[in-house]
Amino acid sequence: MTISTATAAGATTLDVEKIRSDFPALHQESHGHPLAYLDNAATTQKPRAVIDAVRSFYERDCSNVHRGVHLLSQRATVAYEQARTTIKTHLGAADSREIVFTRSTTEGINLVAWSFLCPRLEAGDEILISHMEHHSNIVPWQLLCEEKGANLKVIPIDDDGDIVLDEYEKLLSERTRIVGIVHVSNALGTINPVREIIKIAHHRGVPVLVDGAQALPHLSVDVRDLDCDFFVCSAHKAYGPTGIGALYGKREHLLDMVPYQGGGDMILSVSFDRTTYAEPPHRFEAGTPNIEGAIGFAAALMYLEDIGLDAVAAHEAELLAAATEAVLEVPGVRLVGTARDKASVLSFVVDGIHPHDIGTILDSEGVAVRAGHHCAQPVMARYGLSATVRASFALYNTEREIDALVTGLKKVQEVFG
Ligand SMILES: Cc1ncc(COP(=O)(O)O)c(C=O)c1O
Repeated sequence: MTISTATAAGATTLDVEKIRSDFPALHQESHGHPLAYLDNAATTQKPRAVIDAVRSFYERDCSNVHRGVHLLSQRATVAYEQARTTIKTHLGAADSREIVFTRSTTEGINLVAWSFLCPRLEAGDEILISHMEHHSNIVPWQLLCEEKGANLKVIPIDDDGDIVLDEYEKLLSERTRIVGIVHVSNALGTINPVREIIKIAHHRGVPVLVDGAQALPHLSVDVRDLDCDFFVCSAHKAYGPTGIGALYGKREHLLDMVPYQGGGDMILSVSFDRTTYAEPPHRFEAGTPNIEGAIGFAAALMYLEDIGLDAVAAHEAELLAAATEAVLEVPGVRLVGTARDKASVLSFVVDGIHPHDIGTILDSEGVAVRAGHHCAQPVMARYGLSATVRASFALYNTEREIDALVTGLKKVQEVFG
């Protein structure tokens, strides 16, 4: 499959029309207009490669894993464990046993909170996160703080939406037990300097969890190069199925962690007196897993790799630059999130018009965006807002769809004129 080509200048361009033909859901009308799907930070559409991988599991290999002696179960087990290897390779981990399948980014963070941090946390200890976190990287830590009498500390961000690194260093204390940091902000688009943030934390002996939910579809991630202790992500943000995600954890941490949930498939032996646990990663995968989800997740990453993340990033950077310029020409538009380094998220407000009204009118024009707090209420509060409009771009978006967004915004102006 060739869907990216090298130009004479050496840059790689995407054959976007070819890519779009891989995504059945993009070829539909919405309220009588061609659908312009610009809500990719919420979830992405799925290519045929993913749909086919999931369908093929149901049509051919449908069976449970790790427990059957028969052929279908063996094939399902091989496919499930191969999916783990694909994810390990994609994330640059050293060992497949460092990849735990989860339900989502959210579950990965909860797992680390309760299995890793809870036994190590004492009253008065501190958990350090940033002001731009998604609720899923806030609330699990708050629950743990309540349980243990620990304190949640927050790294400030500046008006552009960049982390204030000097303040970060000051907030790291003798009592800091973990840093939880988002790689790419879903509300602002900021790409955080996570490598530097990790280096600073490690200098003080503090482990770091990276929320990679929005990094996975846009950046080439290498967990060993980052040297993060934990990295969490969801397949559905990167063209894979919903209900499946992955936690990368350094092997020495996973070996030293208690189970998150109990049940089948996570044990070595069970008696009423004593249960012994399986080695990681299975120790953290109690019960029948989302087998078809894992297979679809691997298919999505292979699809992305086939195209090439550098080409994806270059295409999305062009879309973001074009959309930023075009949207700013619409009277009354103000961007929220103007960081130095941004991924393809364009958050904005329009003077005097509520984001939900904007989202509703855009929808009537076939343009799907998100309007709301993006599960990041603290960052909204940082800018004195309750909501923004968010257009977020993926590898299949086009300049034509940016034109549709701008035309829709002009309609909004007419309606509220
Ligand atoms: C930055 C970030 N973190 C975490 C999440 C939670 O992901 P999920 O709902 O797949 O668990 C999201 C989802 O929008 C996100 O954007």
